[in-house]
Amino acid sequence: MAKILVVDDDQGMREVLEIMLERDGYEVGSVSNPERALRRLRRERYDLIITDLRMPGMDGIQFLRQVKELDPDQTVILLTAFASPDTALAAMKEGAYDYIEKNFDVEELKNTIRQALEKKGIKREETFAWDGGEVVHFGGMISKSRKMISVFQTIMKVAETTTNVLILGESGTGKELVARAIHEKSKRSKMPFVVINCGGVPENLLESEFFGYTKGAFTGAFNDRAGLFEIADGGTIFLDEIGELSPFLQVKLLRVVQDKTFRRIGGSEDIKVDVRIISATNQDLRRRVQEGTFREDLYFRLNVIPIHLPPLRERREDIPVLTSYFIERYCRAFGKEPKTLSAYTMDLLMRYDFPGNVRELENIVERGVALEETNIILPENLSVAPPSGTILDGVPEGGLDLNAELARYERVLIEDALGKTGGSRAKAAKMLGISADSLYYRMEKLGITQKMS
Ligand SMILES: Nc1ncnc2c1ncn2[C@@H]1O[C@H](COP(=O)(O)OP(=O)(O)OP(=O)(O)O)[C@@H](O)[C@H]1O
Ligand SMILES: [Mg+2]
Repeated sequence: MAKILVVDDDQGMREVLEIMLERDGYEVGSVSNPERALRRLRRERYDLIITDLRMPGMDGIQFLRQVKELDPDQTVILLTAFASPDTALAAMKEGAYDYIEKNFDVEELKNTIRQALEKKGIKREETFAWDGGEVVHFGGMISKSRKMISVFQTIMKVAETTTNVLILGESGTGKELVARAIHEKSKRSKMPFVVINCGGVPENLLESEFFGYTKGAFTGAFNDRAGLFEIADGGTIFLDEIGELSPFLQVKLLRVVQDKTFRRIGGSEDIKVDVRIISATNQDLRRRVQEGTFREDLYFRLNVIPIHLPPLRERREDIPVLTSYFIERYCRAFGKEPKTLSAYTMDLLMRYDFPGNVRELENIVERGVALEETNIILPENLSVAPPSGTILDGVPEGGLDLNAELARYERVLIEDALGKTGGSRAKAAKMLGISADSLYYRMEKLGITQKMS
């Protein structure tokens, strides 16, 4: 566990930082003045120091200098009530890692700390081996990670309100489940929950989906038709992939978001609705706003409450939880006996990065169960590191089948090589350092069939 020392003469500030950091899984020490801090640092090792800039006796810059004399590699973050460019510069010159104003944004400070520690090669305990929590079931989701449980808490809070929510997260992290959970937990749960995907739909089609149209509004409009905003009246509308919305529809949406009023295409009557708007994206919308491709006013209106969904690789403690959950679910769905995974397979999963997040894990398990291969991770889904000595810690009781494991790993490498070379056997053989004949032989032996390219 990483150790952090907080140095501040303001007791309130020390407490805030202590609580915040401890909650994040750090071990925290705190002292009220620089002299004490130096004494403490001579006795104990800390991975990072957060210090106030103005303190009686010695200022933060002098303190920083002495800390660096003790240990030139020590990481120091300075906090100050008054940021002036001069002191910032002086701090940086003396080797401060960063310089942060006291009215800081908690997430920003946490990120700075995390990055600083990662630079030193210290990963937060929580991201890998945190095992202190109960598994929580919430709104169709399951998790034991602190980050997700704090998402669940936010959902409970926002469900009571009608504010707009923006859900941010990589693909497959559970954005739609979160949107549904907000609706389900709200007073609107008996009213409609309407999903619109804003990506990949032509603009005019999306417009008529949103707002509906009147008879004769355009060729093919044979009847009046209500749009999804009308259908969602009293309930919740979920605008998925909001980042894909065209500039024209951004303007039209802005009006609905502001006034909850719109017209059907071709209509002359204002329609007023009571709809809660939840949107989601895997894009960096703030950057899109800076680039000028997403309207700032719309962004602010949609993003009243942001919910960030952490990628699966940042909450690895959820990998085993979700794996068993999906195994059970798919075994039941396919009418099969529940299976267990070997520690070895679990170890492989634990070391995989899951670019497709929970959805990818779900697909791996589903295929595994369907093909009765739950003890073998389908290689095309995983590019894993070569088995290391540590895997042997997790060998199943009956012992490992070495030949099967080697064949499995051989298959991973061969399929990976074929994948990376676009299916060229000559190139794949070269990549693997074997002859084309040998590759061919091994493919035959392992039954690797290849789509001809
Ligand atoms: N915490 C969880 N517990 C159980 N299942 C989950 C959890 N998170 C995600 N899933 C499952 O993972 C899959 C992906 O979730 P979802 O569709 O909500 O993700 P998404 O963020 O909307 O993805 P995309 O950006 O690709 O649309 C779904 O099948 C969902 O049921
Ligand atoms: Mg989705």
